[in-house]
Amino acid sequence: MLAFPAASVFLSSCASVYYYASTTREGNKITVPTSEFIHLKKGEEQVRQFVLFKINEGGFPICLYRLDEGSYLAALLECTHRGCELNVGGGLYTCPCHGSEFSIEGKVLEGPAEEDLKLFKTESDNEFIYVYLS
Ligand code: FES
Repeated sequence: MLAFPAASVFLSSCASVYYYASTTREGNKITVPTSEFIHLKKGEEQVRQFVLFKINEGGFPICLYRLDEGSYLAALLECTHRGCELNVGGGLYTCPCHGSEFSIEGKVLEGPAEEDLKLFKTESDNEFIYVYLS
């Protein structure tokens, strides 16, 4: 029989490195090539669930999340509680500071945050995704 000490804690290392996409900007329009969602793993093409990009040095990243082919959501990774940078994973945005959780659609799922995340309008075609800052 296997026994674990009562205080045993299984820590998962979430030290995944987020992929930052190459983007171009024209005014308030950010263009992200759809190819930024493709990467090769062991010689096979795989699709990233999301990519990040920043619009200014030192600012919060924006997460461009792929819902489906041709369907994306863009959310600012700034927690609406006290402004910590959010983590992305498991279909959620989570705050490392006080534990708030947000859906990929930016809705508060768990406090203490009370306000939803800032989202940006997106459009896409076969080659590019466009994110409109406002
Ligand atoms: Fe995110 Fe407090 S800053 S929960």
